[in-house]
Amino acid sequence: MKDAFGREIDYLRVSLTDRCNLRCVYCMPEKGIANKLPHEEMLTLEEMYEIIKVFVNTGVKKIRFTGGEPLVRLGAVDLIERVSKLEGVKEITMTTNGILLEDYIEPLKKAGLNRVNISLDSLDAEKYKEITRGGDIQRVKRAIKKAIEYDLNPVKINTVLIGGFNDDEIEDFVNLTINHPIDVRFIELMPMGEAKNFAKAKFIPNSTVLSRVSALEKIENDDIHSPAQYYKLPNAIGKVGLINPISCKFCKDCNRVRLTSTGKLKLCLHSNREIDLKKYLYEGENLEEVIREAILSKEKEHELEKDITINRNMNEIGG
Ligand code: GTP
Ligand code: 5AD
Ligand code: SF4
Repeated sequence: MKDAFGREIDYLRVSLTDRCNLRCVYCMPEKGIANKLPHEEMLTLEEMYEIIKVFVNTGVKKIRFTGGEPLVRLGAVDLIERVSKLEGVKEITMTTNGILLEDYIEPLKKAGLNRVNISLDSLDAEKYKEITRGGDIQRVKRAIKKAIEYDLNPVKINTVLIGGFNDDEIEDFVNLTINHPIDVRFIELMPMGEAKNFAKAKFIPNSTVLSRVSALEKIENDDIHSPAQYYKLPNAIGKVGLINPISCKFCKDCNRVRLTSTGKLKLCLHSNREIDLKKYLYEGENLEEVIREAILSKEKEHELEKDITINRNMNEIGG
């Protein structure tokens, strides 16, 4: 269905959990979880399925499972299998850190997963360990290889650029696209989660990628709703995407809404307004009416430039 600004809302991002098996320095504190969501408030997978079903009735065609890390939620594969059988669902995707992915690729593919986006902020084992506070890059590399073999393509790699940490690896990331069906997407660091404290100081505008790699050529976007603007090296198989949530707003083409693992509907990533769908579900309200009304109230655009503070961290929303 369309929102009040004529945007077709057909993409639902579902955060399966706020828990994560890594502790990326810009996302999670070293120990524990900031604003940890109480376990008893989590939606069961059955409740998630019920809510997703209603969104599909309102016209959602694409569903992305995110986290925290979606694969730490037991039962994720079963949920994906059930959702993939819903009439109207055209694409199921996942955003994962890749640590557990290798062993899940086969079952996920069988369950109906179409594609996967993998977060990877360094190609160097030691630096990866540093940014994730202990992650083993070999696991992620094996997962990427296997995802390509199982045709979860194009595999998209999400790389958050952090000044003085990985801006020296821009060329190496871009070169991955030459011989592999991999799209590398650079994301500008957002002032959320742990990054609130240093996002301004370590901010690297994505224009840096273009000045470093002058051979990149702008290409048409297959999906006008994608937050990325795409480029390509001549003769490369994969693409290079720039996601500029700070320096370039893509709100006017926004087609997405988000469901947190505790059943809150977020109509905009960068707004603090939330609608408690779990409460409506428990009260036996007509969920479809509630959701349709909510979509009509989706914000026109985010107001990050006004220095507003976002209450939730990225691991609670899933990007
Ligand atoms: P594709 O469907 O593969 O293009 O994926 P996607 O870009 O929708 O999903 P992904 O989870 O890979 O998101 C990549 C990053 O884009 C997220 O982590 C966010 O940083 C950013 N992003 C996604 N959606 C939005 C949005 O609505 N607003 C803003 N500001 N940033 C977003
Ligand atoms: N700024 C930009 N990207 C972020 N992500 C997590 N926190 C931030 C932040 N503060 C990214 C992750 C992942 C995606 C879902 O969001 O690296 O790729
Ligand atoms: Fe986990 Fe993703 Fe946050 Fe890293 S950015 S700690 S992988 S949720």
